[in-house]
Amino acid sequence: MSNDRVDRGAHGVLHTAAVTAGESLLPVEGVEEVDHSRRHLLTAATVGIGAVGVAFAAVPFIASWEPSARAKALGAPVSVDASKLEDGQMLKVAYRGQPVFVIRRSKSVVAALGNHDDLLADPKSEDSVQPDYIKASGADRSRTPDYWVGYAVCTHLGCSPLGAFEPNNPYQVQGTDLGQNWPGGFYCPCHGSKYDISGRVFKSMPAPKNLPIPSYTFSGDARIVIGEDELPKSS
Ligand code: FES
Repeated sequence: MSNDRVDRGAHGVLHTAAVTAGESLLPVEGVEEVDHSRRHLLTAATVGIGAVGVAFAAVPFIASWEPSARAKALGAPVSVDASKLEDGQMLKVAYRGQPVFVIRRSKSVVAALGNHDDLLADPKSEDSVQPDYIKASGADRSRTPDYWVGYAVCTHLGCSPLGAFEPNNPYQVQGTDLGQNWPGGFYCPCHGSKYDISGRVFKSMPAPKNLPIPSYTFSGDARIVIGEDELPKSS
């Protein structure tokens, strides 16, 4: 499944990209994506088994872009406007040449995060890569529960996992049965690793660690600055 789209962002910069389900990780420059198809899914605490046959849908793109692609490639912070995300939607941006997920999570999904720790390989993220303030947030693995930010890079061999946010739906990702107790999260189609919605990997998966999380902070309620722990102090 492949989707191409070209957008001109708010700053007049042209963006074009393609996403293929299960693609190997390659630098993704100049792309912000929103998965509109997941709208409202995270608001559902439970989805009936009767909802089988729902394929992972196309991933359309929106785009805005700051600063320049060259600056980003050199490691400059990336500012992301996540204000248009609704519960269950996902945005993908490039930071230092690697894709980063920004996800809006509903209160019910966040509240359920502590219910499956016994199924996870590293529920407290002791052996995973993230800033200290993310580790200290426990199961949330986030600075604020309703937005989750993390690298879209599987810790097995670096494929980009797919969003599989719908709980208890056994056939939602390319016909793959994620199990009747699936709490919602990410699925890596390359070798089948599964992560919860905080990027915590399940036990007995090829992937050894949780999805890594970059430094980030907020410059507004829904403006996320990836690559900074804190905003620079104004003089
Ligand atoms: Fe993700 Fe192998 S690269 S499971």
